[in-house]
Amino acid sequence: MAMKTVVALPGEGIGPEVVDATCDLLMGTGLPLKILTPPQGAPLPEETKRAAREADGVLFGAAGPSTSPVVSWLRWEMAAWAGVRPIRFLPGMRSPLADPDGIDYVLLRENSEGLYPGREGDLADLVRLMPNLHDRTGRTVKEFGTDGRFAVKVVTPRGAERIARFACDLARRRQARGKPGKITCVTKSNVLPRTDGLYDEIVGRVVREAGLTFEHFHVDDAARRLVRFPKAMDVVLCMNLYGDILSDLGAETAGGLGLAPSANFGDNWAYFESVHGSAPDIAGKGIANPTATILSAALMLEHMGLPAEAQRLEAAVARVYRDGKVLTPDQGGSARTRDMAQAVLAAYR
Ligand code: NAI
Ligand code: MG
Repeated sequence: MAMKTVVALPGEGIGPEVVDATCDLLMGTGLPLKILTPPQGAPLPEETKRAAREADGVLFGAAGPSTSPVVSWLRWEMAAWAGVRPIRFLPGMRSPLADPDGIDYVLLRENSEGLYPGREGDLADLVRLMPNLHDRTGRTVKEFGTDGRFAVKVVTPRGAERIARFACDLARRRQARGKPGKITCVTKSNVLPRTDGLYDEIVGRVVREAGLTFEHFHVDDAARRLVRFPKAMDVVLCMNLYGDILSDLGAETAGGLGLAPSANFGDNWAYFESVHGSAPDIAGKGIANPTATILSAALMLEHMGLPAEAQRLEAAVARVYRDGKVLTPDQGGSARTRDMAQAVLAAYR
């Protein structure tokens, strides 16, 4: 097997703890991986960007206030427009739901439009430029006065269509494994008929043309459904902010935020990271759950052309949860980050 290069960018807070534990685990598997850890920093150094662009895989930890330029570059400057966030319960995970067995869906987050990354300004400028911009009652922006701020939400047909096609590909691959081939579109098109409505309309058309099942829920209803009927979900396609919020909710239903991985794809670009952030409340204590980062590494291995190894790593994680002996405190255990990662390594072997 040819040597593959991985760039690991830990971020801050618990990022370095979970990334180090995951990299040690990866090295322990004996896979032909070379792991580079180029410098972070603001702005992200050119040599780091080059190393990440040239690598076979890029694994990120978690951003906090001082490392947000890292995730800004990975996600927005490199245009990783599709955020794939599998929500899967494994026996032994500490779900708050009474009957979580069988939760297995993908929350797909449109990563490049909507309200992210923030485009904000002063209301005074908006009032000057668009004095007649009004809501559906006819109230213009002027009526707010000029002391205030605004944020801009962007939806383009191109952005909606490409994420819809991505969702269809994902649903078809899952369908081959017995899933229903359904895309659940999440917007707030009743309040935002022109932006969210456009997204809803385009996704609906693309999904129906692909011969897959389409359903749409407003984000408030969707939040409730993810708690009440999580097993009815297959591919849940969310606009950017809704996807951010609902992926934490979905992660928790399956067992916790420390368990949720992600894969982020752009055009000829991908990077992998946990859904969680830098968790300053537990950083430095060595008790962060490494599962989200380990499962992100599994998604990375799959992307790097090592699907069997990826599956083996996921199976090793499943075994550690089934055994229930080496779990971090968030899962009701007393293991440390490193011990849990090493238990996964032992199960992998
Ligand atoms: P957070 O995701 O860091 O933490 C939320 C809660 O979940 C905390 O109580 C934390 O202890 C717990 N938690 C998170 N990961 C865990 C793990 N692996 N094991 C055990 N418990 C875990 O969200 P928060 O506190 O809102 O944000 C902290 C910082 O992280 C902020 O600066 C935020 O901007 C950043 N952030 C970065 C993200 C990224 O890098 N993609 C995503 C989310 C937040
Ligand atoms: Mg988030």
